[in-house]
Amino acid sequence: MTVSTQVFDAIVIGAGGAGMRASLALGVEGKRVAVISKVFPTRSHTVAAQGGINAALSNYDADDNWKYHFYDTVKGSDFLGDQHAIEYMCREAPRSIIELEHWGMPFSRDEKGKIYQRAFGGQSRFYGKEKVRRTCAVADRTGHALLHTLYQQNVAHNTQFYSEWFALELVKNKQGHFVGVTAINISDGSKCFFAAKQTILATGGAGRIYEQSTNAYICTGDGLGMAWRHNIGLQDMEMWQFHPTGLYGTGILISEGTRGEGGRLRNAQGDYYMSGYSKNADLACRDIVARSSVQEILAGRGCGPDKDHVHLDLTDLDEDTIRNKLPGITEIAQVYAGVDPRKEPLPVVPTVHYLMGGIPTTEYGQVIEHTPGGDKVIPGLYAVGECACVSVHGANRLGANSLLDLVVFGRAAGHHVAQLDETQPLVYDQDDIDQGFATYTQMMKRTSGIAHSVIRSKLQKIMQRDFGVYRNHSEMQSGLQALKQLKHDYDHSCYFADKSKVFNTNKIEALEVGNLLDVALSTAYASLYRTESRGAHSRMDYPERDDTNWCVHSVVYADESTVKRPVNVAPNEVKPVILEVRD
Ligand code: FUM
Repeated sequence: MTVSTQVFDAIVIGAGGAGMRASLALGVEGKRVAVISKVFPTRSHTVAAQGGINAALSNYDADDNWKYHFYDTVKGSDFLGDQHAIEYMCREAPRSIIELEHWGMPFSRDEKGKIYQRAFGGQSRFYGKEKVRRTCAVADRTGHALLHTLYQQNVAHNTQFYSEWFALELVKNKQGHFVGVTAINISDGSKCFFAAKQTILATGGAGRIYEQSTNAYICTGDGLGMAWRHNIGLQDMEMWQFHPTGLYGTGILISEGTRGEGGRLRNAQGDYYMSGYSKNADLACRDIVARSSVQEILAGRGCGPDKDHVHLDLTDLDEDTIRNKLPGITEIAQVYAGVDPRKEPLPVVPTVHYLMGGIPTTEYGQVIEHTPGGDKVIPGLYAVGECACVSVHGANRLGANSLLDLVVFGRAAGHHVAQLDETQPLVYDQDDIDQGFATYTQMMKRTSGIAHSVIRSKLQKIMQRDFGVYRNHSEMQSGLQALKQLKHDYDHSCYFADKSKVFNTNKIEALEVGNLLDVALSTAYASLYRTESRGAHSRMDYPERDDTNWCVHSVVYADESTVKRPVNVAPNEVKPVILEVRD
């Protein structure tokens, strides 16, 4: 089949919050932008975000301001976040909320008409408050409202959507510039090379490397895989966040907003155990709460016949809160667990939720390569959102900083691309394009081999077993060897059992498994490399945080090389937050 070519000013791969905020910034500047998405834009995983988006609007705490938000985010990151980027995000947050509101995002309101803000984890009381209410919310369906708002604005600004197109590989020219991406149309199997001087990766997370995840099935790390295969170093890939309250059995997210509204975790003995682990109790940072729940389970105080989960108790919440602030999770609990949260506790368990690491970037989304002489920008390539690592989340993200990251850095990247003064012609040749279809063509040619579903299920079991909340060398090492074998099997024997062209989801899943494998391998390399415990990375063989050797980013490469990259501790207008003990 022939390959068509489409040329744009910029290409965005992924139509979640970050991708659509970037494309909107380009559209506003009159640029010709294509958004390529494997699902219809409003089905992107941002739609599943529940609890809210952080901004120090001070609607309830007159003293709150972006500097406290900055402090909490740095501390929450276990000091691995880049402080210049965190400063930028927290300063930009209030403006971003107002902007979204002006575009029609239907925020919940209080009786005075102010945007409703709830408490969330890791928002400190260090200026004397019982709890800080900094998380702006649309009930417990904030991501849904955000995504629809951005989609409407993109339509109004003529963004050209290629929905249900699957991006295969980034294309790099002989001069080392990225010049676009190869893709196939899921609806009819046709192929296209999308060419542009700038390509923005916004492909989201990769939680599906695990067996249980709050992530949608589409979260397969496609952009991470594409970057990895060009030997772009991935940063802090050991840092996987386990959300304390995935619904037991399904992994569906039960928002931290439940605890922000007053819900509490309980063990089988009925003890509200979090106050024994942290002075912030149920609103401690997620890494701390997840570890505490696992400790309860390991100590035999888990719930259910297998004592393998804990309970989230919302029975003290009033009817108005349940009905108006938490309608989504009430429905989820009823439909998927058969539980009415007004009457009974919900069964929950720490479940993989978010990747703090990713493709390293500047605060404008430019992808960077760390060299002995410092960071270098890779020409033609940007990354934003969960696939990127700017790094504002460090070793542990604060709940509700993710939607903020999407809109702040999506906008920054879009503006940056729009302002580029590009005089160089767009240069590529047929060989560059062919490279971008090489793996796909090879898999099409194979007539027998290993089914992708076999590889995927083995991969997910390995990750769940060997790279969970607690880790140690021997398990991770054996996990890595098994992953390498799977990678070998995939590269040499995986094939498309079904070669049909029209809506062939079997083929798409096989391609996704290639990306899952690359993300899993990078996670394994990074997890073994970091010989300390920090944030979400808890090693039983190295239980302490080691600031002397490891207050640095890890960068790992497909050729197995590893590099340490310094953390930026130079914010512009505030004093750096210095290392302290987290509670
Ligand atoms: O718990 C939640 O509502 C999730 C929010 C987040 O991950 O930011």
